[in-house]
Amino acid sequence: MLTGMTSTDPFQRRYAHGIRGMTASEIRALFAVAARPEIVSLAGGMPFLGGLPMDDLRGLVDRVLTDQAGTALQYGGGQGDAALREVLVELMAEEGIDASADDIVTTVGSQQALDLLARMFCDPGDVIVAEGPSYVGALSAFSQYQVDVVHVPLDADGLDPGALEVTLDRLAADGRRVKFLYVVPNFHNPAGVTLAAGRRERMVELARAHDVLILEDNPYGLLGFDGPSPDALRAIDPDNVVYLGTLSKVFCPGLRVGWALVPPALRDRLILVKEAADLCSSNLTEAIAARWFAEQPWRDTIKTFRELYRERRDATVEALHEGFGAAPGGVHWTDPDGGFYVWVTLPAALDAKLMLPKALNARVAYVPGSAFYADGSGTASLRLCYSYPTPDRIREGVRRLVGVVSEELDLLRALGAGP
Ligand SMILES: Cc1ncc(COP(=O)(O)O)c(C=O)c1O
Repeated sequence: MLTGMTSTDPFQRRYAHGIRGMTASEIRALFAVAARPEIVSLAGGMPFLGGLPMDDLRGLVDRVLTDQAGTALQYGGGQGDAALREVLVELMAEEGIDASADDIVTTVGSQQALDLLARMFCDPGDVIVAEGPSYVGALSAFSQYQVDVVHVPLDADGLDPGALEVTLDRLAADGRRVKFLYVVPNFHNPAGVTLAAGRRERMVELARAHDVLILEDNPYGLLGFDGPSPDALRAIDPDNVVYLGTLSKVFCPGLRVGWALVPPALRDRLILVKEAADLCSSNLTEAIAARWFAEQPWRDTIKTFRELYRERRDATVEALHEGFGAAPGGVHWTDPDGGFYVWVTLPAALDAKLMLPKALNARVAYVPGSAFYADGSGTASLRLCYSYPTPDRIREGVRRLVGVVSEELDLLRALGAGP
């Protein structure tokens, strides 16, 4: 599963320290196998682009090249396209954020923003506090800078503020420098839970009191099935929250358009770091995105996405109930109100990573929970992503997964180690 990082790699000793320990993420390694048509992939977090009005998009790309090729095909500025930043202000207003286009820096997906911010703030040995589990792409971006990620557990209402306080106090007592509190408050990847409104104020206060900057990553906030999400952390404390957005899940990931909304004092430094990385984002894809949100009925498209994903969430959760509802083994799962993911907790004796080859044999793919912990914990858990397969395929995939888990539990019982 490792790519180019084994002891036979002739370059191993020459890599920078932060790169030496990197291994292919479990998700990436899975993609090749999971893409086989006979496998129901509940693994990768791909949006279902069938919900996009393709003819409208084709016409729009054509208009961009007809009307503004001279700028769209040219280099741009490091802060990003001004028209795009204006529409992003409108998009964020949907989530109660009062932003100025001046405080936005566009990035190549929000993944680049995670990398640039870690580069900007983190020295080896610094600490980033994050939910446990946490988005795997953030963990890999952070790992390059040799930070220690300290996880704080989640429950059905998101990150637990009591546990956060204990962790921040302990780190302060140990003299550790905490650079960020990294959180995905809405429809969490991978846990599917949403940070309760009442916890948000408390979290913001705790971060302030401990002089820790919040990194709020919000790709899924507009994909709630039952109305808007609670106020963004950025809306509560604009001066101590860096807010990351992306068009990947509410439009499409292929354009690679994301952004950071930063406290004004951080903006110029972030632009410098962005320019050092890649000069500027793509003017072409930013122009397409700007016109999409300025000219198309994008709220209708997002509504279509929400309906599609709700149906898929229902298929997943119903199939889990049917399969595991009566099981004695104690399998639990989250029931998301939006987004793409369900987090499944298995009896502690099971290891989802060891079980994966059997699942692939049974033609279903998932991501083992340990991928979402910097310390490799979470072994008895897994993430299911329901965004891409049709509801029927989801039901079939979950049925296959239930078969595999049930066999594992039977085996454990036969060995006298079962739950
Ligand atoms: C929580 C979270 N943050 C960031 C990203 C990165 O998204 P992108 O780089 O496509 O904007 C993802 C993608 O799945 C995600 O789930």
